[in-house]
Amino acid sequence: MNAQIKAIGVYAPSQIIPNDWFTDKIETNSDWIISRTGIRERRFAGKDEYTSDLCVNAVKNLLAENPGVTLDGVDFIIVATTTADQIMPSMATRVQNYFNIENCGCLDIMAACAGFVYGLILAKGLIAAGTHKKVLVFGAETLSKFTDYADRSSCILFGDAAGAALVETSDKSKIFNCVTGSDGSHGKDLYLSQHATVVDGEQIDANGKIHQNGKVVFKWAVRTMSQKINELLTINNLERDQLDWVILHSANLRIIEAVALETGFPMDKMLTSIELFGNTSSASIPLAWDIAAKAGKIKTGDKMLLLGFGGGLTYAGVIVEA
Ligand code: COA
Repeated sequence: MNAQIKAIGVYAPSQIIPNDWFTDKIETNSDWIISRTGIRERRFAGKDEYTSDLCVNAVKNLLAENPGVTLDGVDFIIVATTTADQIMPSMATRVQNYFNIENCGCLDIMAACAGFVYGLILAKGLIAAGTHKKVLVFGAETLSKFTDYADRSSCILFGDAAGAALVETSDKSKIFNCVTGSDGSHGKDLYLSQHATVVDGEQIDANGKIHQNGKVVFKWAVRTMSQKINELLTINNLERDQLDWVILHSANLRIIEAVALETGFPMDKMLTSIELFGNTSSASIPLAWDIAAKAGKIKTGDKMLLLGFGGGLTYAGVIVEA
């Protein structure tokens, strides 16, 4: 069985947080944030707005913007998130219940900012195995609820959003070969822990907020993602100029620029969501896809390389046809 991404839908909360929002809370300024990250603003969920609400709204937008597409026959839901409303039940069952989808497997996965691509790869696997036909995949986060606003090097980065992709059977394969991998020795360089634990012999903070060693993650991301882009081209027998678009996780515009330089892609082929949404973790790739589609950039049949990376450290990449 072949698989395709039939439709994409996204949602970001209405509350816009410009860079200046931080200036009376921490020592920073908008020029520093723009020059070091590319971020101008981000969205924060409301007090009573949670990750599952964002997922539901992403599906509503997907249906409204893709006439003829329905949830009839959806038989599996995968939600990639690190910021679930609660640990149990899964966000996938919240979506299933909201839309009253019957006979549907539900599963949340945890792969931080790489989660959406991991979800696509799993959905393709379910369809290729012939056990499922129509899978909803989400990358959805409310990072603002897990941000340490006293840490000026991380709090300016994060935003909230959700992206949904409907993956279903297809006459022709449109989700191609993938790469996945991890380096767990960097666990202590990016984490969110509710309990006092020890990672690699080091006691880590357990205040339920995101901690990161920005410099280490930055260098790892540029080096590893550049290698993985070249690997994805090789295993898919594609030359660089046969690829229409690259969507690297929007963690920091400087990471994307450095990877573009390293791999020889012009910046106008790199689609991002960083400028107006910040780092939305697992939601950043569908968000960048949606922004570019609405700007009329992405055409049916375009070849796109999607590559997510994040806490783990872990990564997942795949080439798809739009
Ligand atoms: N405003 C103003 N100054 C700030 C600041 C802020 N918000 N945050 C840090 N600084 C200061 C630092 O204290 C440091 O000052 P010093 O030189 O006096 O010590 C200086 O700016 C440079 O800090 P540095 O940490 O070297 O900045 P950077 O260029 O590495 O940028 C990050 C910091 C976090 C933006 C960057 O490292 C990054 O994006 N890393 C990757 C993060 C990531 O990808 N995370 C998610 C992965 S999914």
